[in-house]
Amino acid sequence: MKNYPTPHINATPDDFAKTVLMPGDPLRSEFIAKNMLEGAKLINNVRSINGYTGTYKGKRVTVMASGMGMPSIGIYSYELYNFFNVDNIIRVGTAGALDENINIRDIVLAIGASTNSAFASQYNLGGTFSATASYTLLRDAHDIATNKGAVCHIGNVLSSDTFYSADTAANEKWRQMGIKCIEMEAAALYMNAARAKKNALAILTISDNIITGAQTSAEERQTSFTDMMEIALETAIKQS
Ligand code: HPA
Repeated sequence: MKNYPTPHINATPDDFAKTVLMPGDPLRSEFIAKNMLEGAKLINNVRSINGYTGTYKGKRVTVMASGMGMPSIGIYSYELYNFFNVDNIIRVGTAGALDENINIRDIVLAIGASTNSAFASQYNLGGTFSATASYTLLRDAHDIATNKGAVCHIGNVLSSDTFYSADTAANEKWRQMGIKCIEMEAAALYMNAARAKKNALAILTISDNIITGAQTSAEERQTSFTDMMEIALETAIKQS
């Protein structure tokens, strides 16, 4: 059965490279395509979720936005893995640090993604599933980041369903479990990868520190985003 186009992606499997980089923001996707890829061609823009395929150092790479939150990345990553033959998805996003020793602009590679969402309940596992990154993607990204001189932490992150939470005590409890930072997508991406027997990694730049109150300026966000994208693109082209 032909499962494409879908209501969310108006493209064919051939339009996609085997590795897709996923920023949350569609404008970031456009920025990467126009500034960092060669010959980038628009392959999807349903709901303005811009997707482009081009080449980086001669190798084919796709960049497509995920939107915000687990329901949104859940839809796109499910379709890419199961209907569009994509093997690797690398999320490139921002996160709020929960550790005073992690500075703004540092990079966190999410070896695991804990969550307060019920995304895993669909699998009826009767326990707690550990949503983890692909080791190969994590190892390659870590090697590339450290070779570039980036400050790079590896650890467990929290994928949260809420940005504005009524439960003001929750962050401290997650911090006590060693959670490095909070974002809103990695756990769903990792679960979809596990279920489809594919590969995923979340590379996160720290945009703010929830403990110290430190925040990045717009200019710092752009520079650190570009640094993170270079790490993600180098990781992507090592996969073929
Ligand atoms: N919470 C969730 N997602 C985020 C945050 C945060 O504090 N900062 C950047 N992305």
